[in-house]
Order: sequence, then C-alpha cells, then structure tokens
Amino acid sequence: MTHPSSTGSRRLVVLGTGGTIAGSSPQAGANLGYTAGTVSVEALLGGFTAPEGFALHAEQIAQLDSKDMDTATWQALHERCEHWLAHDDVAGVVITHGTDTIEETAFFLHSVLSSPKPVVLACAMRPSTALMPDGPQNLRDALAVAATVDAAGVTVVCAGDIHDAVAVRKTHPYRLNAFGSGDTGPVGYMEEGQPRLLRPWPRRPSSEPVTVPGAGHWPRVEIVLSHAGASGTLIDTLVRERQNGVCGAVAGIVLGATGNASLHRDLEQAALRAQAVGIEVRVAARCNEGRLLPTPDASFPIMADLSPVKARIALMLALYRG
Ligand code: SIN
Repeated sequence: MTHPSSTGSRRLVVLGTGGTIAGSSPQAGANLGYTAGTVSVEALLGGFTAPEGFALHAEQIAQLDSKDMDTATWQALHERCEHWLAHDDVAGVVITHGTDTIEETAFFLHSVLSSPKPVVLACAMRPSTALMPDGPQNLRDALAVAATVDAAGVTVVCAGDIHDAVAVRKTHPYRLNAFGSGDTGPVGYMEEGQPRLLRPWPRRPSSEPVTVPGAGHWPRVEIVLSHAGASGTLIDTLVRERQNGVCGAVAGIVLGATGNASLHRDLEQAALRAQAVGIEVRVAARCNEGRLLPTPDASFPIMADLSPVKARIALMLALYRG
C-alpha cells in the first residue's frame, strides 16, 4: 500500500515482519506482557510523514514474534528486497522486525542480497501501546538512513545507533539501547535526523545474485555450545541420526567455543567423530567481542568474526551452494 502522506518522486519500501515494534498489550502503557506482531506495518506508518522527496510504500511480509523467525520468511524477505531494490525509483528498503533475531535476519540479507542500495532494519524494545514507545523514533531513524544519498548495505538501527549486519548483536534483554557492535563499534549515530558516520557504509560480500534455498532445501546446521561439564552426547545423537539415514539429518555443526576457539575435550572428540562421518564442523566464538585468531593445531576451521548464530547461517548457505 502506498502511504497517503507520500508525495515524493522516489520511493522507500517498508516491509513489516512483526516484533515488539508491532506489539500491543491489553494493559494500557505496559512495557512487558504484550503480544509481539499484532499491529500492521501500515498502521505503524500511520502518523508518519515520509522523508522529504520520498513516497512510502508498505507491505506486510509476516506478523510474528521474531523468536519464531523461519526460513520461509527469510525467503520472502529476500524475494521482496530483490524485487523492490531493482526498481530505479526505490532508494532503499526498511524492514520492521523483532529485536530477538534481528541480527540473524540482517546477516542473512547481507549474505544474499545483490543490490548495493540500503536495507535498514528497525525494531523496538517497547510495544506500540507503551506509554513511551521507542518504535516510532527507531522507524523514523531507519527511514532517514534509507533516504540518505550514499547509504548502502544492510544495517540495524536502534536507539540512535546504526549497526552493520556482521557486527551487530543483541546485548541486553530490556534496555532501549539493546544492541552493540563489539570491537568495531557502530557504523554511525543518528543526529538531528541525519546519520553521522564513524566508518564507511557496509559492503555486501557479492554483487552477483545469490540463490537462496527453497522450502525443504535448507541444510540442517545445529549449534552446540562448549561449556564447563560439556559432553559429546548431543553430537553423538546427531551423528547416529545421520548414520541411520534419518530424513533432514544434520549436515553441519557450529561449535560455540570458549576463549580463542577452545573446546571441552569430550565435545571436541565427539565433533571429530561427526567430522569423520561427513558432517561439516565449524568453530565460532562464544565471547561477545573480538575475533578468533587461527592456531596451528586447530581441529576445525574457525569462523573468526561471526557469532555462533551467524556462523550457522553462513554454513547453511555454504553447504547449500556445495
Ligand atoms: C521479537 O523479537 O519479536 C520480540 C522482542 C522484541 O522485538 O523486542
């Protein structure tokens, strides 16, 4: 739907997927105890004036709590982003999304989209019915980023910070500024409705179109965390499933490693057994900041800059491409 207050000659497309930003509570003003993903993206844009010179076009892609994000919604988002970004008059796409898995959706889109135009994910920590909801300001900021002349790449905008899709992580379950970008820090900050950049806009890994797996074709990749008292039991179960030819058996495992890629010895032995039967094993950091450094005696390849949840997406896409 094209937003009624829109008058510009260029367009920004807003894709709704749900989340707290679209959440509502029967208890007026409550910050907790609400239902995510109840308010339509058109309604969220209700009181908005488009950035000057732009028309807004809204589309509802999904209406869910992002803890339940699924590959079907990712496929739909990929298809709609590619569709709209191919239009000359579309400057960028804004996606309204829950905070819980926004970093995964952002990283997925960063990995697969071919257009250099900006895709900006907006979220909120308070539902739309809160006394002081944060969604409207975050959405306004996301639209301003998408409308910025030289903006590019996939970013997440929250509480005035602009994060890139690779570095961003949800770091807090409650406060309004719930995201961090670790060592790299944010790409920039919103100041008086304009982005102030600290480093260049993020670049996509490829300008070639990337094929995204269709329904039923996503390789199964599980995450197993190394921790005090870890065992190989979970991994051995996955190996048995594979050896018994169970449909949808695991194709890859990401190990969430302690320290600089260190693994509990029992978990490591089980992961070696998994590798021996053809399961791809990768190691990602359990630490929230920094990157893994290669070591000469490592048993498995590391995904140096990725959190376990993002390493899982990277491995699924790599296994699909073969
Ligand atoms: C969700 O992720 O959909 C719910 C939580 C939130 O958006 O903050």
